[in-house]
Amino acid sequence: MKLLSTKATCNSHGQDSSYFLGWQEYEKNPYDEVLNPEGIIQMGLAENQLSFDLLESWLDRNPNVAGFKSNDGKSIFRELALFQDYHGLPSFKKALVDFMAEIRGNKVTFDPNHIVLTAGSTPANETLMFCLAEKGEAFLLPTPYYPGFDRDLKWRTGVEIVPIQCTSSNNFQITEPALQLAYQEAKKRNLRVKGVLVTNPSNPLGTTMSRSELNLLIDFIKDKNIHLISDEIYSGTVYSSPGFVSVMEILKERNDLEDCHAPVWDRVHVVYSLSKDLGLPGFRVGAIYSQNDVVVEAATKMSSFGLVSSQTQYLLSAMLGDKKFTKSYISENQKRLKRRQRMFVSGLQKAGIGCLKTNNAGLFCWVDMSHLLHSNTFEAEMELWKKILYEVRLNISPGSSCHCAEPGWFRMCFANMSEDTLNLAMKRLKAFAAAEFNGSSCSKKVTLQLGFPAIVS
Ligand SMILES: Cc1ncc(COP(=O)(O)O)c(C=O)c1O
Repeated sequence: MKLLSTKATCNSHGQDSSYFLGWQEYEKNPYDEVLNPEGIIQMGLAENQLSFDLLESWLDRNPNVAGFKSNDGKSIFRELALFQDYHGLPSFKKALVDFMAEIRGNKVTFDPNHIVLTAGSTPANETLMFCLAEKGEAFLLPTPYYPGFDRDLKWRTGVEIVPIQCTSSNNFQITEPALQLAYQEAKKRNLRVKGVLVTNPSNPLGTTMSRSELNLLIDFIKDKNIHLISDEIYSGTVYSSPGFVSVMEILKERNDLEDCHAPVWDRVHVVYSLSKDLGLPGFRVGAIYSQNDVVVEAATKMSSFGLVSSQTQYLLSAMLGDKKFTKSYISENQKRLKRRQRMFVSGLQKAGIGCLKTNNAGLFCWVDMSHLLHSNTFEAEMELWKKILYEVRLNISPGSSCHCAEPGWFRMCFANMSEDTLNLAMKRLKAFAAAEFNGSSCSKKVTLQLGFPAIVS
């Protein structure tokens, strides 16, 4: 008898992806300025550690909240300990929808009755798959896409992902022919298409979607009578123009959809989380927003598998309810991210490495290292990735783990470390690129320049 079920062992989880393998290698030998200065620097983790001090000083100014006390100093510990309504705390839902609107420049508003709380975007995306598609039905996703989607969308639901192939020729924007091709491809595979899922801003591209792309998507789902899921987890993590435009804004603008209750509104669903914009992935706070009552009802039932704890809701309802704080946080956080992104891009330039020019959002850049490949193949991309992981000791995510159609692209994160660590990472990369470019991939030469012994896998 097998110990584990076929569901638990089926490889649609994607655990063998270089995205997860890189993390495992990092865990074995993590960089530390004092304890392990020659270790691997983690550049494969989209975390924002640049604005913790802002959150911490808010907590210092509001000790009652962290001590589970109400404004008048009375303990609400027992109340929070017993709370288990899967609809969530009304005060938190209100604060969250207001925060989502603020990030969108208050051009759109969100009704707290249409929000479903989830323990992060991960369960939000899975819940939508569970509610909207049968096993063996498909969602179309533009490539490159966040590697976690294989696990989140497919693994437990049996839903299939069909790629919408985007290319560097137009900075990986979605086109009408690419959408149609993906739809035909699904049909060829006998898969019924239930919708399109996009991340806006994109992980891993670090770009916001244009109005024309969003309109194209609306036209497409209208025509095919399918759903659109917009994962807007990075909506507040946009630091340069053009700014972020939510699909909700486009829906509101379009004359052909003026009636909020037209079926298209019912088929567009937004996913959000505080993991990136507030830098709180450990708190596990996410949401589904949908105008569709039936979807909201089904997703609310599902949410009992991944609720947000009541003390977290209590704390964040006070923090996000402090409008003066959220306003200054959003703007200061964006300034810091912009500065950090510039520092990173200039470090790449010094190493002779370019990245997607349209990068204006996210906690990473989509970096082009195709000139360092020995051949224009995914085998060569893996070879280069291993060298960067084991010799240069940087964990970055290869494009192939994001299902990119072209070899040589890598996602590199820049906001999960100190400036000094980023400078060191850039120094290592520059030495490596110079050595490679001079035609020598010899580890000895790299060893000399990096100042530590290389391990070649
Ligand atoms: C596009 C996207 N969606 C979802 C997630 C998962 O986020 P959470 O921590 O909220 O589950 C991530 C995390 O990196 C992401 O980049």
